Amino acid sequence: MTSGVCPGPITIRLASSADAETIAAIYNEGIAERIATFETEPRTAAEIATLLASKQDRYPTVVVERDGRIVGWAGASAYRSRPAYAGVAEHSVYVARAARGTGVGREALDALCRVYAERGFWKLVSRIFTENKASLVLHERCGFRVVGVYRRHGQLEGRWRDCVIVEKLL
Ligand SMILES: CC(C)(COP(=O)(O)OP(=O)(O)OC[C@H]1O[C@@H](n2cnc3c(N)ncnc32)[C@H](O)[C@@H]1OP(=O)(O)O)[C@@H](O)C(=O)NCCC(=O)NCCS
Repeated sequence: MTSGVCPGPITIRLASSADAETIAAIYNEGIAERIATFETEPRTAAEIATLLASKQDRYPTVVVERDGRIVGWAGASAYRSRPAYAGVAEHSVYVARAARGTGVGREALDALCRVYAERGFWKLVSRIFTENKASLVLHERCGFRVVGVYRRHGQLEGRWRDCVIVEKLL
């Protein structure tokens, strides 16, 4: 998929609390579109900064920069609190609307897989709305497998939504 513009080189690094405002802005674009998440309330930079701090180095967030500006991120959190699931994390990936379709999501998600594998996680999992074609293709390209579909998994603004469960063994 091409955007019609020539994208510049990218860099990838771990996020710090200084990135909270941009991470929140990109997340809020996705929340507003109602295709990425059951979340409906925009996040503040302060909330994201607190979240990043609480995750510390155990659940790092990866940011992708192009021309020195963050254009996408991928992060994860604990899947369940039981010790048996300690090596499973549940992830998210968001790309700034203006940068989508230029390979940023792929870079972010591949980097997240590498970073979590290095930390000893054995699996990343996520849920994707069945309508979210971009995310479904991205995950397939990054080596995720479709586990199945949760029917009527939750309601978003009064409408039932189905979710595709995806996983990747790291
Ligand atoms: C889903 C999302 C992260 C994908 O990121 P992206 O940077 O646009 O994706 P990439 O450019 O890296 O593309 C990855 C693959 O998906 C494909 N793809 C991207 N957008 C697509 C679309 N709208 N329809 C079909 N395929 C698409 C690309 O062609 C590419 O496949 P290829 O390598 O065969 O060409 C991005 O669209 C986004 O931020 N959406 C809103 C938030 C969201 O839905 N997050 C996921 C929640 S589960």
